Amino acid sequence: MKRLFLFITTIIIFIIPSQADEGMWLPYLLQLNEKDMQANGMKISAEDIYSINHGSLKDAVVLFGSGCTGEIVSDQGLLLTNHHCGYGRIQAHSTLEHDYLTNGFWAMNKNEELPNPGFTVTLLVSMKDVTREVLEGVKDNMSESERQSIINKNINKIKETAVIGTHYQARITPIYNNNQYLLFINEVFTDIRLVGAPPSNIGKFGGDTDNWMWPRHTGDFSVFRIYTGKDGKPAPYSKDNIPYRPKRHLKISLKDINEGDFTFVFGYPGSTQQFIPSYAVELIKDQTDPIAIDLRTKRLDIIKRYINNDRLTRIQYASKAAGISNGWKKWIGELQGLDRLNTVKNKQNIEAQFLTWIQNDPSRQQKYGTLLDQYKNLYAQLQPVAKENSYFMEAFYSIEIVEFMWKLKSLLTLNPNTPDADKERILKNAANNIKSFFKDYNSKLDKEIFILLANEYFQHSQYTRNKIDVEKTADRIFSRSLFLQQEKLEQLVASGNVKALQKLNNDVLVKFAMPYFDLYIDSVSPQYQALNKQITSLNRIWTQALMEMQPDKQFYPDANLTLRVAYGKVAGFEPQDGVKYKHYTTIEGIMQKENPDIYDYVVEPRLKELYNNKDYGRYANSKGEMPVAFIATNHTTGGNSGSPVLNAYGELIGLNFDRCWEGTMSDIQYDPQVCRNITLDIRYCLFIIDKFAGAGHLIEEMDIVN
Ligand code: ARG
Ligand code: GLU
Repeated sequence: MKRLFLFITTIIIFIIPSQADEGMWLPYLLQLNEKDMQANGMKISAEDIYSINHGSLKDAVVLFGSGCTGEIVSDQGLLLTNHHCGYGRIQAHSTLEHDYLTNGFWAMNKNEELPNPGFTVTLLVSMKDVTREVLEGVKDNMSESERQSIINKNINKIKETAVIGTHYQARITPIYNNNQYLLFINEVFTDIRLVGAPPSNIGKFGGDTDNWMWPRHTGDFSVFRIYTGKDGKPAPYSKDNIPYRPKRHLKISLKDINEGDFTFVFGYPGSTQQFIPSYAVELIKDQTDPIAIDLRTKRLDIIKRYINNDRLTRIQYASKAAGISNGWKKWIGELQGLDRLNTVKNKQNIEAQFLTWIQNDPSRQQKYGTLLDQYKNLYAQLQPVAKENSYFMEAFYSIEIVEFMWKLKSLLTLNPNTPDADKERILKNAANNIKSFFKDYNSKLDKEIFILLANEYFQHSQYTRNKIDVEKTADRIFSRSLFLQQEKLEQLVASGNVKALQKLNNDVLVKFAMPYFDLYIDSVSPQYQALNKQITSLNRIWTQALMEMQPDKQFYPDANLTLRVAYGKVAGFEPQDGVKYKHYTTIEGIMQKENPDIYDYVVEPRLKELYNNKDYGRYANSKGEMPVAFIATNHTTGGNSGSPVLNAYGELIGLNFDRCWEGTMSDIQYDPQVCRNITLDIRYCLFIIDKFAGAGHLIEEMDIVN
């Protein structure tokens, strides 16, 4: 009986083609999903979403910077993305007198829009499969390095010829763990201006407390505009540039959003690992995640104590803390999810099926017979090296002053023979680094972190068993090192006196830290990379085997910061026994969370006024509520922030900005029961622009369907 049951479950795992809602699909192959999408409610065609023959939705979706997504919403290049994606730009324009982060910023006409030199957005022109061309000349029996060098040569050639005579850029990325290759032709825009941002009390409402959580009330958006040269082509900032005229901009829907409605997310997911073997999941679950979580918990405890007691430290460390806490919280959710789904066991089941599948087939035996043993062996070797790596990165290198010293290390190499041009560059970089470091540095806080993290590092690194009195060392470094004395260090760098600079090599901090950097660079990192390289080539073969073993399953490639479509339905979920989450939130929740004494929950007086008067204009739903956010089953990950969330007609209904905590293991295993992406309702975004900020001229540019 038990046997039979096992047999049946095995078959079921085999047969289910792909779980509903899971998947980040390639837009140029979307015909393969079209039927399923339409069966789930989509009213447009795959060709409406991605076409190389005529304008399609893809012409309105951009990679924003290098880790977020944005969408064009007017025929004048108006761009929406998340507040946390625009954060760096908003911060860069903020000063004590013009604190746009705190108070928000709104350009009331195009002349007031703020340029961001060096910042880019990237628009996809086309994509295609170039696997055959990339693998030309590659043979099965080649060594990995021979193989890679042929591939690199082919890639360079294809990239070069692909963009001849155009202003486009080419990029080739492997998919399916180096089994296939895609060519992307991109147009890169270089004049991107800040148009608007809500105050942090709206754009970051709930802060790190609510991050990754539902119910959510964050107005996580900011507004930019793409400019081009007079010829309509990308050009660096010039005041004569003109607003970009896109081939396509998104229409915006203000209609009700109901549970069960079809939605899709069109954007740039960064990285997922669906194909990894059980050994890799074990490593993440038993070692990598727990170490990082533990170290960050302790580090955040210290930072929070300082932030809560001092306003200046809050300004200096808010963004740092957000970065540390974002990963920390995600990994906690991921661990719980991997446990709950029993992902290791699921992977082991697939591996068992695989063994059966190759058992009686000599050619499979020959190709794949040793695969799992090799994995097992490599992960056994990787485990201690990865631990060493984690403690180096998350403990030792996470001490701010240590990282700062490392960034200035080229100062230590200056000597009388250094060519003038190099010297000048090194001194200039150092001067910039010093200025920006001390602007946001609290040495008392960092000394506590030093004592904490250095202790952790020395306790856990297998290389550093000899006794070090960390507290005494900290006392010495923090009282004597020149790297902690801004003025002296600045003077030294400004002097350009090589002899004096060379003395930095005897600085207490350098003397203390350098040996551990040497150790890492000479020993840990090379081992770590060598093992990962071997694992990467096994991954290629393993992925190939999995695809061969399940010929009827529709696969999607792991996310790799290329344009994808994820689709699903608006849906609440049950995070725990007895708890049910609704699919949307409203402004009522903002008022329920309001607490003038807690930084994350301060509500702007103007917003309260609008709330008290129920002055929601055309943006309320049919029940008269002001919706703020909703959740759906779309499979998303980091990088999807700012992605357009569209309805069955391809109209914009919101901006993706997060996932629910219970589902963050979806980077490894997706679960339709609890994996939900969190979307800012476009109606709240427009309400803030229009009613709160009085920037109605931006609304007029947009194409709104009621
Ligand atoms: N969790 C979101 C993402 O992964 C938002 C991060 C920014 N917000 C924050 N409170 N740290 O990027
Ligand atoms: N906030 C994430 C981002 O910046 C999206 C959340 C996620 O799904 O990982 O891309």
